[in-house]
Amino acid sequence: MTDPVIAQSGPYEVTLSSGKNYAWCSCGLSSKQPFCDGTHKETKDLKPMVFVADKVETVYLCGCKQTSNGPYCDGTHSML
Ligand code: FES
Repeated sequence: MTDPVIAQSGPYEVTLSSGKNYAWCSCGLSSKQPFCDGTHKETKDLKPMVFVADKVETVYLCGCKQTSNGPYCDGTHSML
């Protein structure tokens, strides 16, 4: 599997905690969207994107897994 699965046709609104590590699911297979649950291990190429929140904020994490600005929604979902 090299192409991600669309987990949701729009972004997930999430409030991040400052200093916390997150792993955004890039394969679309996780049951804990928009975060990784380890299911990507069934794929060969897709891995989660790990990032650290530098402040408390509400963000929109990509659910369609087609964004060019992962882990954030860039509006690509509106063209699917
Ligand atoms: Fe993927 Fe918006 S949800 S680009």
